[in-house]
Amino acid sequence: MDKDLQITETFFADDRVDGIDKVTGKATFAGEHQLANMAYAVFVGSTIAKGSIKNMLLFEAKNAPGVLDIIYYGNCPAVPGYDPYLKDPNKKGYEWRGLKPFHNNQVYSNGQPIAMVIADTLERAVHAASLVKAEYVKAEFDSDFERSKTDEKKLKKSGEYKRGEADAYKNGEVSIEAEYTIPIETHNPMELHATIAVWDGDDKLTVYDKSQGPKNVQRDLANNFGLPEKNVRVVTEYVGGAFGSALRSWPHVPAACIAAKKVKRPVKLMLTREQMFTTVGYRPHAWQKIGISADKQGKLTGITHHAISNTSRYEDFSEGIVNVSQFLYDCPNVNTSYRLLPLDVNTPTWMRGPGPATGCFALECALDELSYKLNIDPIELRLINHANVNPVNKLPWSTKFLKECYALGKEKIGWQNRRAIPGELTEDGILVGYGMAGGVFGAGRGQATAKGILKSDGTLILQSAVSDMGPGTSTAMVTIGAEAMELPPRKISFELGDTDFPTGPIQGGSGTTAAIGTAITIVCSALKQSLKEMVIANIPAFANLKPEALKYSNGIISVADNASINISYTDLLKQCNKPEIEVVKDSARASAEAQKYAMNSFSVHFVKLHVYSRTGLIKLKQIVSVADAGKIIAENTARSQMVGGAVGGIGMALTEEVFIDNRYGRYTNSNFADYHVPVNADTPPMDVLFVNKPDNIISPTGAKGIGEIALVGVAPAIANAVYNATGKRIRQLPITPDKLL
Ligand code: MOS
Repeated sequence: MDKDLQITETFFADDRVDGIDKVTGKATFAGEHQLANMAYAVFVGSTIAKGSIKNMLLFEAKNAPGVLDIIYYGNCPAVPGYDPYLKDPNKKGYEWRGLKPFHNNQVYSNGQPIAMVIADTLERAVHAASLVKAEYVKAEFDSDFERSKTDEKKLKKSGEYKRGEADAYKNGEVSIEAEYTIPIETHNPMELHATIAVWDGDDKLTVYDKSQGPKNVQRDLANNFGLPEKNVRVVTEYVGGAFGSALRSWPHVPAACIAAKKVKRPVKLMLTREQMFTTVGYRPHAWQKIGISADKQGKLTGITHHAISNTSRYEDFSEGIVNVSQFLYDCPNVNTSYRLLPLDVNTPTWMRGPGPATGCFALECALDELSYKLNIDPIELRLINHANVNPVNKLPWSTKFLKECYALGKEKIGWQNRRAIPGELTEDGILVGYGMAGGVFGAGRGQATAKGILKSDGTLILQSAVSDMGPGTSTAMVTIGAEAMELPPRKISFELGDTDFPTGPIQGGSGTTAAIGTAITIVCSALKQSLKEMVIANIPAFANLKPEALKYSNGIISVADNASINISYTDLLKQCNKPEIEVVKDSARASAEAQKYAMNSFSVHFVKLHVYSRTGLIKLKQIVSVADAGKIIAENTARSQMVGGAVGGIGMALTEEVFIDNRYGRYTNSNFADYHVPVNADTPPMDVLFVNKPDNIISPTGAKGIGEIALVGVAPAIANAVYNATGKRIRQLPITPDKLL
């Protein structure tokens, strides 16, 4: 027992604070909460891509065993957020965003939820859902990105940029022009999206939900059901992975609430894997064209970058695909354009590295191609065009250690073994390729609030209503708290994922550590300030001392130049008859000072791979990912972020692709058998290196952000290595064996 306890404590203190709970099953994820009298809702999806429902055939399903109700547009109770401004024009902001399930009989995409069966067990609900049929009036639809992207009339403008001369690459000394395509990639975290809704009377709602931002879910549901925010509680204590799909609430969230209200029981609605494809967004299909030129010495003279990505017919989703070409390298002439193509499909959304992941695939492949044409090493080409200030706004970067990233990665991968001529290097007769590419993402610091409760038993509880979708936020916050409060980590717990806690930011855009970490730092200084005042006022040995004369270490306050005068936090609180002290503090967004800087995290990924020329099989041999992500707060969880991001990049480069059958506007591979996410066997040994230099302009934590740059740049690094091995430039992801034969 003692021994077990020791192992636990070591693990707790040094690694992941929630690791044991997660691997032993103690951690409760949204769909795992067990509530008395729970009922189960199952979505029925449309089988047409566009049109309207003429008739729902529910007789058989209604009479199936265990069915409590079937909700569809014809009997859905009124939802205030569905038509708010019809009643009150001032309430337009309260309208439910995106698809409103069961609002009317319109169908906008294949698989759209058109009915919801509620039964007393999941199995009975699934069975009854299979019996629901609909009669439709079909309308003409368009789901064909490849065909429609060339039709100017169908495109919506979403942004243009120009500095210097447009299309300057056309007159460059050395230039290339090429097109790049990435298919739809969908969200496939291990944990499916799930919502459990429980009503207490008509005006109090508790929701257990998979979310990256419980406060946003609270706000959206309060608006949607016409409730004060305080009457809605959202719990999202553990999240089993998310890459952006849980940044907003999709139709299953209000649907579960509608169901629970109607049947007057707690209702759980968990999506199936197939419904993850049709319901919670995806990285959009994107076409890009890059023209790029340099003089013979490698100095860039022009970049032109055009992009088109798809959106749905009922919402515009756009992301900064072409922005990377505007600022990543120093180039006098840059023009970009970005347009959206609305199709009759469900709405895409943010997915790890949204924008730059797609944009860097084209830009970093184009630079690689240019490097061969110039006969300049690709790293050298990037160094020649290194941007010392952000070329768009001319601001210096708060910190930028990109050159250090190149140097570290080059050494680790053994770049000197790379051959400048493709196909020259073999190992045991197998082609060998080396490739590299850079990644970038915006950094910054949002607003956050945290609470700290220091107890007389010597423990510190930190709280904020954020969620931890897997990056290790809890571990990072405990680490920051331990340092700021001068307490051992195992005395600290970080509580999150509950809207009853102070407002935390949404977990997205690689911004959580800087935002909440800052709030935690402020909370801890306030707690130390209280301790200071208490010790001077109440403990005679400290009387009349100036606050500066005190120091803190390992939970003890002592006099800086006389350590024999000391008292533990615990004894101090006890002697002052205080069971605990509590503070709530707010951290503002990054300061005005920060406006004078450009702020980004940077990464560079290096790949070594084998290509079997007879089969086109690619075997990754090694990936080295190097990050300039500011100060690394928790080494292990940071490393895992980088590894996870690289695995996402492997999927993007080699395996992931959603197929649509354009005769029906339907996904044909919305399952794990046919949609291939990379598995362990696809993943080579990984080295993760951090420059690990703090950025104190962004936040006192020194952190910049890791989540996105972990993935951005991985796919082009792989594509560039494939070219180095084979001389084949594949510009259409994923790079499957058939494309190499
Ligand atoms: Mo991330 S795409 O900000 O979850």
